Amino acid sequence: MGIVISPSILAADFANLERDLNRIADADYAHVDVMDGHFVPNLTIGLPVVARLAQVSPLPLDVHLMIDDPDRWAPGYAEVGANLVTFHAEAAANPAQVARDIRRHGARVGIAVRPGTALDPYLDLLPSVDMILVMTVEPGFGGQSFIPEMMLKVRQARAAISRSGLDIWVEVDGGISRSTIEQAADAGANVFVAGSAVYAAEVAADEVAALRELAERHPHAG
Ligand code: DX5
Ligand code: ZN
Repeated sequence: MGIVISPSILAADFANLERDLNRIADADYAHVDVMDGHFVPNLTIGLPVVARLAQVSPLPLDVHLMIDDPDRWAPGYAEVGANLVTFHAEAAANPAQVARDIRRHGARVGIAVRPGTALDPYLDLLPSVDMILVMTVEPGFGGQSFIPEMMLKVRQARAAISRSGLDIWVEVDGGISRSTIEQAADAGANVFVAGSAVYAAEVAADEVAALRELAERHPHAG
């Protein structure tokens, strides 16, 4: 289970998304935040834009759906070429079915929980997913402060995964920077989303390398 760095293009220049994807070409994934103005108050981009990003991106896409009714909309993101499609547990009527539908289109599937959502009711879904996304801020906006209390949930996720014997990733998203990534890695996360930290840096590639190096100091047997 390697370290995966997935910079969020929410902090990129939306008039130059292709250029800004190329600025992070030495990361592992590009994290794409889809917000519908209902599940979260903010509104970003949707399917037609993600479809084009999948065509021009030098990196596989890690699409984070902060939308209502993923049962209806999530499979379409897999269909247009997203490599990893994550939906929120709170928003899905039938999470196991959403996961199956995403996989049927050839993508990996992630399930996300907001800071206030307990993981326990979803742990029986482990065989249906490839990743658990533990939100480390309230979803909706970039540039918020990391919530350290979420490290308990990361530990719980990693422990449940270890018990299951399955190869499942744990992603953290929100407030990840040089000063927070080590505690997340130590708790058992292996996929790290960073928006403002990467795109505010003068050289985005240097920030990606620095984050990777810090995370690699805390290898987790998985
Ligand atoms: C927040 C998004 C995040 C956001 C992270 O709702 O899901 O992916 O882009 O941004 P930073 O790294 O600035 O907290
Ligand atoms: Zn996100």
